[in-house]
Amino acid sequence: MSYYKIDSLEQYFKHYNKSIREPRKFWGKIAEENFTWYQQWEKVVDFNMAEADVKWFVDAKVNIVKNAIDRHLARRGNKTAIIFEPNNPDEPALHITYNELHQRVCKMANVLRAQGIAKGDRVCIYLPMIPELAVAVLACARIGAIHSVVFAGFSAAALATRINDSDCKMVVTSDGGFRGNKTIGLKSIVDEALQSCPSVKSVLVAKRTNDEISMHADRDIWLQPLLDEASDNNVAEIMDAEDPLFILYTSGSTGKPKGMVHTTAGYMVYTAYTFKNVFNYEENDIFWCTADIGWITGHSYILYGPLLNGATTVMFEGVPSHPDFSRFWEVIEKHRVTHFYTAPTAIRALAKENIDYIQPYPLKSLKVIGSVGEPINEEAWHWYNDHVGGKRCPLVDTWWQTETGGIMISPLAFITPTKPTYASLPLPGIQPVLMDEKRNEIEGNQVTGSLCIKFPWPAIARTIWGNHQRYKDTYFSTFPGKYFTGDGALRDEVGYYRITGRVDDVVIVSGHNLGTAPIEDAINEHPAVAESAIVGFPHDIKGNALYGYIILKETGESRDRNNLANEINMMISHQIGPIAKLDKIQFVNGLPKTRSGKIMRRILRKIAEGDFSNFGDISTLLNPEIVEEIKDGRI
Ligand code: WTA
Repeated sequence: MSYYKIDSLEQYFKHYNKSIREPRKFWGKIAEENFTWYQQWEKVVDFNMAEADVKWFVDAKVNIVKNAIDRHLARRGNKTAIIFEPNNPDEPALHITYNELHQRVCKMANVLRAQGIAKGDRVCIYLPMIPELAVAVLACARIGAIHSVVFAGFSAAALATRINDSDCKMVVTSDGGFRGNKTIGLKSIVDEALQSCPSVKSVLVAKRTNDEISMHADRDIWLQPLLDEASDNNVAEIMDAEDPLFILYTSGSTGKPKGMVHTTAGYMVYTAYTFKNVFNYEENDIFWCTADIGWITGHSYILYGPLLNGATTVMFEGVPSHPDFSRFWEVIEKHRVTHFYTAPTAIRALAKENIDYIQPYPLKSLKVIGSVGEPINEEAWHWYNDHVGGKRCPLVDTWWQTETGGIMISPLAFITPTKPTYASLPLPGIQPVLMDEKRNEIEGNQVTGSLCIKFPWPAIARTIWGNHQRYKDTYFSTFPGKYFTGDGALRDEVGYYRITGRVDDVVIVSGHNLGTAPIEDAINEHPAVAESAIVGFPHDIKGNALYGYIILKETGESRDRNNLANEINMMISHQIGPIAKLDKIQFVNGLPKTRSGKIMRRILRKIAEGDFSNFGDISTLLNPEIVEEIKDGRI
């Protein structure tokens, strides 16, 4: 019997139980029957959770791109692999077949090698959502170079931090990118970043906007002429199962961003398996995930998951609001999309617009709709279910993280009964547990706690680039021997999980994880600022927005507050990116602190939310009187 595809709820429970009782047999069989290997593994899994050491398919040899492209060529060579839908609806869409994708990736792989990139080198990819992005990612994987995609909305400073953290040798970028009615000058951002990135030897530049840009003679090279010259014959690198496939940065609650390292074989098996089952993917479906490839959702469910299954995946360059709010629905109709996977923040933004934007579109091609990135509130769930899913498409609310590589808790489309706002049941192989404050596992149902996972799964990140200690401290020390997600959850009377949100200092704004500490660091660099504290507060569309409490230095006291607020937001934009700007700024004379000097964020959060009831015990504060003062000055 095969375990690759679950066909009924009963079978789900069977497979789930098998995966827990005999994880080695379960994953071993899936890996053996559904992928092409150069060499089999010695052991399916080897791990020591206390040390944060996990290995899957030990000693196996494989190439993920051979599995995602080459092995489909005989049967699906002329099938569309990627549909590229440009930002401008008047520009024709592009259908790239598996044959063409193979050719483009092989050429790019040869270009990378000719430019001195070899197995293990880090390549930073800073591109808009154009086919070159997919091709660059896959070309890196083909030759064993480690891709580090940086979302093209990050600032020069944020880009430089990420390039330097992993000593990237090369940057692949474009002259610019189109997003809605804006044009973004990516190459000039790269130029600025590279002033402080000594490891970068060359920059490959794709053409997209045709804007004039400066090219540095000894460093920058136009990509297209190299591709035109390159051969499309390329021998893929033979990779060890545990060779790093990519690094992807995610915000931590403190310090610099964490370069999560995903390795080859486990990530391959798990993303393919979860794509197939969560979405109930069938041959000839058209899958559209609206994320950017700069985030994990794009890595796993625009590229690897779909391509490993030989699927057709849509890559959309634009935004939901351009040229108007019917853009998503128009794209679904145009390409007869069967699976639509987006974020609650997009749903809320679209639900707020006039219903006439969606009503003319019957959306009959849709079979399954999905949600990811943050908890989906009840109202958004129903709007999505009723107006997009037509009350007939299962809505899969998929909970997972950059660190988990693939979907962890989610309904399986057409199999698991859905319940609004619930991510429902764990995928086979996933053992969630809820922990209480005393670090004990909470048994039974109708309980809430900190969400941990107690057994490794194939796509768990293996480390933080260059800092295994931080990896261990962040994820494996709060609850020793278990992976701590940073999320809180409740388990209902039948065992369904509902994710309630972060329990640490990460705030999710429009589906983007933002650590509060790096934002505070950026603000504190302003010469007029003495200290600051950032918290999240509920926002109708973004889910959460940022509220900043800022103490000025004496020199700042006499300055105009509006100007200061603007300058502070500009600094944040410059250091991190516009997504991290503050919605509200309150200038205060002090912050509530404990005797050990820790800011009591719990109180600041309550004030930002406008909830003045029950601040709890504030008598332990060094300065309890400040609480009233801050409360009175709330904006
Ligand atoms: C949150 C995105 C509730 C959660 C794939 C998690 C969710 C963080 C859901 C990871 C969901 C993601 N319901 N919360 N369906 N999906 N989250 O790393 O707090 O960008 O820890 O990965 O998003 O965000 P990341």
